[in-house]
Amino acid sequence: IDIPLNQKNIILIGFMGAGKTTIGQLLAEKLGRRFLDADQEIERLHGMPVTEIFKSLGEPAFRQMEKDYIVELCQQSREQVVSLGGGSFMQDEIRSACLHSGIVYHLDLTWESWKERFAELIDTRPILQSRSIEEIEELFNSRKIIYADNHHTVNVDTLTPEQIADHMVRHLR
Ligand code: S3P
Repeated sequence: IDIPLNQKNIILIGFMGAGKTTIGQLLAEKLGRRFLDADQEIERLHGMPVTEIFKSLGEPAFRQMEKDYIVELCQQSREQVVSLGGGSFMQDEIRSACLHSGIVYHLDLTWESWKERFAELIDTRPILQSRSIEEIEELFNSRKIIYADNHHTVNVDTLTPEQIADHMVRHLR
């Protein structure tokens, strides 16, 4: 069954550090919608930070939790703003559940501006801790292709989160 456009979730994807959570919160406020951050919800549900899930249970366990949580969220919720972890869209089932129930926005940034954010991210992102900078650049580029496919893209290099959220509100109307 098709979900009416105005009831669809607005789903934010993009690489770690693109600003999905900050922008999602602002966007939800502006639209008067509820905001959900998938990683924060997974942490609450399992009573552990994502870093701890990676460390003690491993990445595959995290990916399973991520899939279970997001697929169910897509089936059960309407009219929310949801930000997803940067790796979630690599899973087919998550992608198709989101594309069915939501309007997906890709927050896009260049590698150059991402590198400036690296230092703030490293401590809380296990994906970055286990890779060299060359490997991270490769991951960045390969994921960008998936993020950009069939979704609205918003460039976040130069605008403030406030400006980006305003831009998205205009785009949605
Ligand atoms: C991940 C991104 C993180 C978090 C986890 C794995 C990834 O979320 O889900 O550390 O694989 O890109 P953010 O994109 O919110 O940093």
